[in-house]
Amino acid sequence: MRHFLTLRDFSKKEILEIVDLGLQIKKDLRAGIYKEELKKQTLAMIFEKSSTRTRVSFETGMFQLGGHALFLSNRDIHLGRGEPVKDTARVISGMCDMVMIRTFSHSMIEEFAAYSKVPVINGLTDSYHPVQLLADYMTMVEYDIHENAIVAYVGDGNNMTHSWMMLCAKIGFELRIATPRGYEVNSDILAESMKFAKESGAKITVTNDPKEAVRGATIVTTDTWASMGQEEEKEERINAFKGYMVDDLMMCLAAKGAKFLHCLPAYREQEVSESVLEGHADIVFDEAENRLHAQKGLMVWLDKQRGI
Ligand code: CP
Ligand code: NVA
Repeated sequence: MRHFLTLRDFSKKEILEIVDLGLQIKKDLRAGIYKEELKKQTLAMIFEKSSTRTRVSFETGMFQLGGHALFLSNRDIHLGRGEPVKDTARVISGMCDMVMIRTFSHSMIEEFAAYSKVPVINGLTDSYHPVQLLADYMTMVEYDIHENAIVAYVGDGNNMTHSWMMLCAKIGFELRIATPRGYEVNSDILAESMKFAKESGAKITVTNDPKEAVRGATIVTTDTWASMGQEEEKEERINAFKGYMVDDLMMCLAAKGAKFLHCLPAYREQEVSESVLEGHADIVFDEAENRLHAQKGLMVWLDKQRGI
């Protein structure tokens, strides 16, 4: 049995298998073919933070696969009142077939997985957002921008950045990260991804100069400056991130025809201008839709691992 907590635990081959499976399932869906590969299975979804895409994609995906999804907000279950994580894990995994968790500390999801009898999927922690990167890579493949990609990530060194680092390190492309001073990526995760990058031939660089990162990039991406749980720092961050908005001028520095990606939700005229977001709306909303297809691929893949 496998859990999906971060891409660090997955090989390039496995990531490609999951993405390919998602692409096949997407093709089937377009043709009206529903293979009920998770018939009668239940996915428990524990949310300790808000969500639009993650909730809708997992719930819809599970239904399309012939299963059922349970939405469990921490306001409604005893976890939010102090029932230990290890007890919650043993109870829920005794009744459900898979668990998806969106929470704050990454160690909570690790503890849950350690006590769970069924696969656990990370639906976002403060450290990583790996399911988003499955959808992002699927989008890169669909738009045929995955080979020799030079990805510039401009913004906060956060869960999205860390997952970009792991994806890049495993797949083997170039990733340039520009963050303001004081908002750099986690140094341990950077060191570990550098180690994987050496093995795959990936190139990861970090800078405090967004222009340096974006010059010649084939894909530019960013994320909110204040993640969930950092609402009180919002004003301070808006000041610290001056010069980091991905706008038309910044996109002009990128390679001709460069694409823009955003995990959403987007804060216009903060990390991205209205015109860049709307100018790349086709790919950005395909990227959002791909959450559904990539995660269906992931759930079917994880289910198959049980039998191996
Ligand atoms: N990108 C993403 O995970 O969106 P939600 O927070 O809406 O789930
Ligand atoms: N970094 C953001 C991602 C939202 C999908 C957050 O954690 O809030």
